[in-house]
Amino acid sequence: MEYGTKAGDPTKTRTQCVVIGLYENNHLTASATRIDKASKGHIRKILKRGDIQGKVGQTLLLHDVPNISAPRVLLVGLGNEETADASRFVAVIRATIAQLKQIPAKHSLVCLLEASAGNKDLAWKTERSIEYFEAGVYSFDEMKGTNGDDSKSRPKNESVDFQLEDKNDAETVNLAIVAATALTLGIAAAKNVANAPANICTPTYLAEAAKKLAKDYSSITTTVLEESHMKKLGMGAFLSVSQGSDEPAKLIIMQHKGAGAKDKPHVIVGKGITFDTGGISLKPGGTMYEMIYDMCGAASVYGTMKAIAEQKLPMNVVGVIAAAENMPSGKASRPGDIVKTMSGQTVEILNTDAEGRLVLCDALTYIDKFNPASVIDVATLTGACVVALGTHAIGLFANDDTVANQLLAAGEDTHDRAWRMPIWEEYQTQINSAFADMQNIGGPAAGSITAACFLARFTKKYRWAHLDIAGTAYKWAGTNKGATGRPVTLLTQYLNDRAREPAA
Ligand code: BES
Ligand code: MN
Ligand code: ZN
Repeated sequence: MEYGTKAGDPTKTRTQCVVIGLYENNHLTASATRIDKASKGHIRKILKRGDIQGKVGQTLLLHDVPNISAPRVLLVGLGNEETADASRFVAVIRATIAQLKQIPAKHSLVCLLEASAGNKDLAWKTERSIEYFEAGVYSFDEMKGTNGDDSKSRPKNESVDFQLEDKNDAETVNLAIVAATALTLGIAAAKNVANAPANICTPTYLAEAAKKLAKDYSSITTTVLEESHMKKLGMGAFLSVSQGSDEPAKLIIMQHKGAGAKDKPHVIVGKGITFDTGGISLKPGGTMYEMIYDMCGAASVYGTMKAIAEQKLPMNVVGVIAAAENMPSGKASRPGDIVKTMSGQTVEILNTDAEGRLVLCDALTYIDKFNPASVIDVATLTGACVVALGTHAIGLFANDDTVANQLLAAGEDTHDRAWRMPIWEEYQTQINSAFADMQNIGGPAAGSITAACFLARFTKKYRWAHLDIAGTAYKWAGTNKGATGRPVTLLTQYLNDRAREPAA
């Protein structure tokens, strides 16, 4: 959708729907008060009738409200003003777009920046409004045939103007619109590659998408390492994952150059398993289809690179995708195989389904050549992370408290939240191996921690954090199914925060 601002009288604005907020206890926002006054108390009359109480996310669509130019007024509950916070604001925006989607209002005037979001400011409210509006209208129709395609008959919401309480706020809100538009382009790009199934989205497909990014943005250069090259570099762990598949692995490097050549880059690395069968340690069939999403880390790296290129972020960032397909076959690696990583350390592969750490460890060794300011890897790494944190918090692990706190802050700021878990030395013993330097599984206890401990053995030379997004990267429930785009928002915020910092 397109976004703009309006500072006029909302009762007179020519639009197809005006969206106004009501708190509990009959407390109206400024715009709601104006609509109420112009309509001679129509809004208060409806409140009195009790059809809406102002509870969070409640909505009521009114038609032909007296003396209001717009044919529709959408009332949205904001809850109790005193306890308003960021989560609540996001819930309000989600409820709003769910309603707007149902009606053929191409243009709406949204008067919700007036709603309190606790300590969050106007720019934040604008950015989150756009982020969650875009999330609400997103649909993945690329694969729909002409018969099943209902996208054409669905109402289309084309543009939203945000009502300003004070016309001096125009600059703040317009800057936030620009930032959020870049962000949502990145999120949508991440969702599109993530939602594409594994027969379309292969490692080669991801490499092509990354090359296309370099065509679209002059700040980006893309390089793709083929298996032969990876073999020369000694990436025995990475290659052990793809050896059972007919699809060749790719190590994809996207470099965004927004600062001088001497400026150390921040590096983001994504797990790009385009389908994870488990390999010879085959997964049960029931929900194996979910594993088209085992490249969501890669998708978020790709989407973040698009967002920061769109923003022309004045810093250097390297985005790396470790892409492979994990298949069983006569060529596949076996439980018990021992491989040598690029770092020289050897790994006993006791479970071929713990493949994410095998592709990531070699990618994490490779990127040391960029002399990184910080390194963040993003991966749908463990089912154990879903058990520990569920579907709301991203699992965060780090060998550096500053980087960890910066990521936590970026997540808290943008509502794309992470929660830190330990990678204490004590856990390391769980992945010690009798035959090799380490084994790729650490037993049933603390599965997401031992996975992170494995990666920690390859990231000692730089400041590093690992984001386990197994629970947050996608939803597999009914109508809500699909990639979430997380953590493009968190990563984009983290990088923007670093760009604003004075150089180290
Ligand atoms: N891709 C999976 C992790 C996963 C599971 C992501 C469920 C999203 C939802 C990963 O490759 C995997 O299979 N991990 C194993 C590790 C185990 C063998 C140590 C797991 O979590 O069971
Ligand atoms: Mn696996
Ligand atoms: Zn996996």
